[in-house]
Amino acid sequence: MTDRRYVIDELISAKSIAARIEAICHEIREEFADTDKLVVVGLLRGSFVFIADLVRELDLPLEVDFLEASSYGDGMESSREVRILKDLRGAIEGRDVLLVEDIVDTGHTLHHVTKLLESRNPARLRTIALLDKPSRREVEMKADWTGFEIPDEFVVGYGIDYGQRNRNLPFIGKVRFT
Ligand code: PRP
Repeated sequence: MTDRRYVIDELISAKSIAARIEAICHEIREEFADTDKLVVVGLLRGSFVFIADLVRELDLPLEVDFLEASSYGDGMESSREVRILKDLRGAIEGRDVLLVEDIVDTGHTLHHVTKLLESRNPARLRTIALLDKPSRREVEMKADWTGFEIPDEFVVGYGIDYGQRNRNLPFIGKVRFT
């Protein structure tokens, strides 16, 4: 946990997030309309709120699985090293996979995890990220669907933490140090 004092300003409201998810789900449903082998994979911990809303809005026959990766410590800087802390429970060979990420920052996590999942020979792998900070990119990487492109602000809420706090905020907020 951090000792720095800060306040949180709302950046994206819960209502805007819900509207964007609804719009993207129309496209995702079209993409996966032809399959009953869909596995939606949430990248823990940050995606746990997003994936919960996403799968309920998707309303498709699907399974849910989780993978835990970590590239940050408890601070704000990426270590550039992606560690798999918890692997999937199920095999994805021949399955259609939707990988759900909360935020793409440097791109290392999405790059590493998509490579890992591709090596397991899924029939199709698509990616979705709620947030994208393109200005921070270190490896060329873009999710197939992005909720919102945001500037280089430190954001929290809707699953995303600062020092492991604030994941339970229903909106995306911007950390402002005081
Ligand atoms: C954060 C976030 C993304 C990743 C993005 O995860 O949830 O998964 O970093 O950063 P990158 O594009 O620079 O790789 P973190 O490692 O903090 O773990 P968490 O999801 O458990 O909070």
